[in-house]
Amino acid sequence: MPTLVIVGTQWGDEGKGKIVDVLTEKAHYVVRFQGGNNAGHTLVINQKKYILHLIPSGIFHANTICVIGNGVVVDPEVLIGEIEKLKDQGIDVSPQKLKISERAHTIMPYHRALDQAREAIANRDKIGTTGRGIGPCYEDKVGRRGFRLIDLTKPDFFKEKLKKVLEEKNFLLQNLGAEPLSFEGIYERYIQYGQYLKPYLCDTSQLLWEAYHNKASILFEGAQGTFLDIDFGTYPYVTSSNTIAGNACSGSGFGPSQIEEVLGIVKAYTTRVGEGPFPTEQKNALGELLREKGGEFGSTTGRPRRCGWLDLVMVKTAIQLNGITGLAITKLDVLSGLERLKLCTAYKLGDRILSYVPSTLDELASVEPIYEELPGWEEDLTKIKHYEELPQQTKNYLKKIEDYLKVPIHIISTGPDRENCLILKHLFP
Ligand code: IMP
Repeated sequence: MPTLVIVGTQWGDEGKGKIVDVLTEKAHYVVRFQGGNNAGHTLVINQKKYILHLIPSGIFHANTICVIGNGVVVDPEVLIGEIEKLKDQGIDVSPQKLKISERAHTIMPYHRALDQAREAIANRDKIGTTGRGIGPCYEDKVGRRGFRLIDLTKPDFFKEKLKKVLEEKNFLLQNLGAEPLSFEGIYERYIQYGQYLKPYLCDTSQLLWEAYHNKASILFEGAQGTFLDIDFGTYPYVTSSNTIAGNACSGSGFGPSQIEEVLGIVKAYTTRVGEGPFPTEQKNALGELLREKGGEFGSTTGRPRRCGWLDLVMVKTAIQLNGITGLAITKLDVLSGLERLKLCTAYKLGDRILSYVPSTLDELASVEPIYEELPGWEEDLTKIKHYEELPQQTKNYLKKIEDYLKVPIHIISTGPDRENCLILKHLFP
């Protein structure tokens, strides 16, 4: 049965959640492998809106097991809140349905406090983080000071290590002008979280190995997007994990030779939140129109997203970095009503023409996008049920994208609901 990784090809918010939701109907397992509650999926099911931050969107399908892999950083407070909210809405979130890696690292209150204190300091370059403690938690994981979720179920070990770690964190917090945190305020609460989460914890790598050998179909759901990758993104304006498809393996303990397809999600235009260069950004009425019409406000922080034309140079680079074998185009309906559309097909940097995203911020901030223009379309796409019914100009826009990228489009999303989806190739037959 197929194994498929889904990744964003831009700066996140490409609409991965909806595509995952549509594909999950046929998947036995949906796995998150990196990031934390900095991510946010907005799903519309039967006109009802759900926002998820940590739990894979497969939770809405009765026969899908959702996995939070070892590469994810978990804020237990947020996760438990999400579980309880879903339960209140009548969704099954039992330990049979949700499996969490005991190796996943825990976002602690001092991670959030440090993230926010660092961002708040004046005269320093802000990254524009979500303030959820993601970066500081990954720092501690790599620095070997972190707490795995399983550690919360071992009171003596947790107590001793927390005392030592907290000493250093309070030193940092006070020097950053923030309040120190008390041991008592954290210890009892996190031991309780450990008890709550214990039935959900397991070795998810073993689970996936068995599932694979039992011929299950497995979908790995990336969070954020390629250009927020810690290595290949617009560093330092990136998140703190590898968001590219390769991390589906280390973030879940699954071997690379067992991955069959990589689906790249491409929003029909480009957006980003936070700071950093953005070559095709439209700081004008068009940018505002895309933001309003596309509802481009962060599902985690509510921040307005910066908007611009579709940058095919980025997407082409993402195809190379992720080994993308197929594409899903999302939010195509948002472009309806624009007289002319632009696609960025190269960058001009001084007297050089680039067809890839350069490594340094200086270079990316200096590039001049080279555009190809196409006529737009008037029609509302949300009612369309088959590819053939799309306006000819829409087909031309899609064909141009496919020809340039040389990767087939498998899915076209024409509106927010599950129903607004044209599937050209079934990835989970
Ligand atoms: P952090 O991941 O909270 O440390 O934030 C680092 C950068 O990644 C900031 O620019 C965030 O806005 C951005 N970011 C993190 N998660 C997402 C996401 O899910 N969508 C879009 N941007 C994100």
